[in-house]
Amino acid sequence: DILLGVMGDPIVQSKSPVMHGAALKALGISGAYVPLHITPGQLGEAIQAIRTLGFRGVNVTIPHKVAVMEYMDRLDDSALIVGAVNTVVNDDGVLTGYNTDGIGYVRSLKAEAAPELSGTRVLVIGAGGAARGIIAALLEDHPLEVIIANRTEDKAKQLAAAFQSKGAVSGIGMDEIPAHIPGMDIVINTTSVGMYPHTDATPIDPALLREGMIVSDLIYNPLHTRLLTEGQKRGCRIHGGLDMFVYQGAYAFEYWTGRSAPVDIMRQTIIDCLR
Ligand code: ATR
Repeated sequence: DILLGVMGDPIVQSKSPVMHGAALKALGISGAYVPLHITPGQLGEAIQAIRTLGFRGVNVTIPHKVAVMEYMDRLDDSALIVGAVNTVVNDDGVLTGYNTDGIGYVRSLKAEAAPELSGTRVLVIGAGGAARGIIAALLEDHPLEVIIANRTEDKAKQLAAAFQSKGAVSGIGMDEIPAHIPGMDIVINTTSVGMYPHTDATPIDPALLREGMIVSDLIYNPLHTRLLTEGQKRGCRIHGGLDMFVYQGAYAFEYWTGRSAPVDIMRQTIIDCLR
């Protein structure tokens, strides 16, 4: 039996247990994926318990993604680039920390909206941890250009500088978006602007969106943010944050089980439990 779980504080809201439970069942794998309420003071002991109890792995969520790094035996590049871990794999007591958020996002973007990223121009709004992971993963597919726009312009420039060796990445302030957006193929919101309960807000003026653009939002509550509905009205192809969640889970599931994740079943399980 394979033992899996998710550590967070709080944890009741996590959709990972139902999503991974459905995936295990769909593939006929016997085992369990359990929610684990772990406070910050308990994190070290809880990670040690993965070995003691023989868990194959866990997801790690808020507020542990950074703190958990010090307890890992190894850190994958995906975790080192972002400075955070969301997936732990236990190989006979050796714990490796991964971050599947960025690669999960890019896999979902390619599967659901933009099969070919090479040669595209991408505008990323926001310059926090989520943007960092996504840009690292995007650059593996060789977009022509990535522009990072952020409220705090300096952070956009710093993040762009960190990726200089990997591609054409630049940082701008929000006020420069109108001048740059006409040439963009893909617009990605990584900020929390538009998230419940502030569902009327958009990170950029929707009038800047043009037919044929791909508009993507990491937010999945609501499933379709105002940015996405405004984009759809203007003939954009839209991509929502639920798929990022599904595919970060898909990578974790594949690392733990060695099997292809049943992504359609995973997504439908979440949609059903949001109803
Ligand atoms: P995450 O890990 O989700 O990326 P983060 O590292 O705290 O979270 O980054 C949040 C990002 O959303 C930042 O780019 C932040 O802009 P600043 O760097 O200027 O703070 C952006 N953000 C958050 N709230 C915002 C708002 N109301 N308007 C514009 N940008 C906002």
